[in-house]
Amino acid sequence: MELTIYSLAQLALRNGQDKPEVWIAYNGLIYDVTHSRLWRKGTHYEHWAGQDLTDELKDAPHTDYVFEKLNVIGRLKMD
Ligand code: HEM
Repeated sequence: MELTIYSLAQLALRNGQDKPEVWIAYNGLIYDVTHSRLWRKGTHYEHWAGQDLTDELKDAPHTDYVFEKLNVIGRLKMD
């Protein structure tokens, strides 16, 4: 199935503030964490939704297994 491609600007609006949706990007894919109690209002510890967080995972106490059960919304447009 073809995934919809979103720009960084479109992703940035889904920060739980400008728009109600809460999306994060990791390794080129965009994941939906709108209903995650760990991403309320678009924040997760000191990390913010609406961004490409690929480089920030190294700060996490967990690996990327946390993405396995999340819905993929689309693909991040690489500039
Ligand atoms: C100080 C840094 C961080 C802490 C203390 C932290 C802590 C946690 C904890 C305790 C969980 C629950 C894990 C579980 O269900 O086993 C979690 C889930 C998650 N974390 Fe982090 N995390 C951090 C950084 C990050 C970063 C940088 C990302 C993104 C690249 C991230 C993405 C996620 C995601 C997607 C989930 C799953 C949410 C869900 O299923 O509802 N975390 N985190």
